[in-house]
Amino acid sequence: MRTPFRTALLPLLALGFGHAQATEWQALPERPPIPADNPQSRAKIELGKTLYHDPRLSSTGTVSCASCHSVMEGGDDHRPVSIGVHGQRGGRNAPTVWNAAFHSSQFWDGRAASLEDQAKGPVTNPIEMGMPDLASAVDRLRAIPGYGPMFDAAFGANAEISADTMAKAIAAYERTLVTGDSAYDRFVKGDSGALSAQQKRGMAAFAATGCTACHGGAAFNGPQLEAGKPFLVKFPTYPKNEYVRRYRLLDDPGRFASTSQEEDRHMWRVPTLRNLVYTAPYFHNGSVKSIPEAVRVMATTQLDRRLDEPTVADISAFLEALSGPFPDQTMPHLPPTPGDLIE
Ligand code: HEC
Ligand code: HEC
Repeated sequence: MRTPFRTALLPLLALGFGHAQATEWQALPERPPIPADNPQSRAKIELGKTLYHDPRLSSTGTVSCASCHSVMEGGDDHRPVSIGVHGQRGGRNAPTVWNAAFHSSQFWDGRAASLEDQAKGPVTNPIEMGMPDLASAVDRLRAIPGYGPMFDAAFGANAEISADTMAKAIAAYERTLVTGDSAYDRFVKGDSGALSAQQKRGMAAFAATGCTACHGGAAFNGPQLEAGKPFLVKFPTYPKNEYVRRYRLLDDPGRFASTSQEEDRHMWRVPTLRNLVYTAPYFHNGSVKSIPEAVRVMATTQLDRRLDEPTVADISAFLEALSGPFPDQTMPHLPPTPGDLIE
């Protein structure tokens, strides 16, 4: 396990306040980091898109990655917590897959080191896609004749259909899910009319309030760390307020749930703030329904500050400018199902 990056919170916040004026605003790069052992190719991306939309990777044949992460919209499922096979509910909100490739680690608590690692998890998660094991998922793919040529085109002649090649293809597709031409990006690149006066005020308030101490960088998810290192902070940092009770922000122990290390209790990875317009409800438990309320909660729980309502409205307007546009995609064509594939 790689050592996670933890913030010494106070110096970091001091940085956020002291250098508010000097905040470095970055546009989203066209391409996210691409790992050396999984280069992009058109055939691999097409295979990944097909697998991503294929419900036959679930035990019931009804749930695909897209069921919980619809790329026709926000890359999530609109629900507080997700619903998988047999209508079962999970404990956490589905984060968006748009721009997930800019995270140095995956999941709310950063427990998966890469998109490749992440992609193997949902298939065998009993309340997500519910396959008994990865071998059964691979057997399903091998039994669908149309997949053989697609794996060959993506990975070379006689390529193995395996959990690894499946995950690599899905990750390659996810690395195309980039929304870098938002009003904010256009503004940073020099189009001074791309943001409204209110959004510009909100941008300044976002930095001056200290939000950039955590939500810095082009994806607003903190410093670009090496792959596998999550940018973890304590949430809530200030737990004694009505928001923490109302939205049950201490119920889930965060990273502690997967590591059982006391120092990981209530540690969470800093998420992206792009496309929030499309990804309500907010936070790991989907407890907060609107952007302004999420801004109030953050200011209080992370910075111990109460913002006046005009400032909340300005920051919310700025956050709205971080959305879309979404690249055009064609729907994949799923290869035909043999009659005996799913009972
Ligand atoms: C039943 C709903 C469901 C299905 C199906 C599902 N996911 Fe997820 N996904 C979630 C939830 C919930 C989380 C957050 C879990 C957590 O953080 O503990 C998540 C997290 C992720 C993340 C991390 C994003 C981030 O910001 O950290 C990625 C990427 C992702 N899923 C991709 C996939 C892929 C690829 C598939 C198909 C192989 C898939 N998901 C299937 C619900 C689902
Ligand atoms: C000390 C670090 C820190 C600071 C400062 C901070 N945030 Fe956050 N922010 C986080 C973390 C961690 C989360 C994820 C919380 C969770 O796990 O539910 C988050 C989540 C959010 C979300 C919800 C994202 C989603 O997809 O559900 C919004 C919106 C947000 N922050 C906005 C802000 C704003 C606006 C400010 C300034 C007022 C701010 N944050 C300050 C760390 C921080």
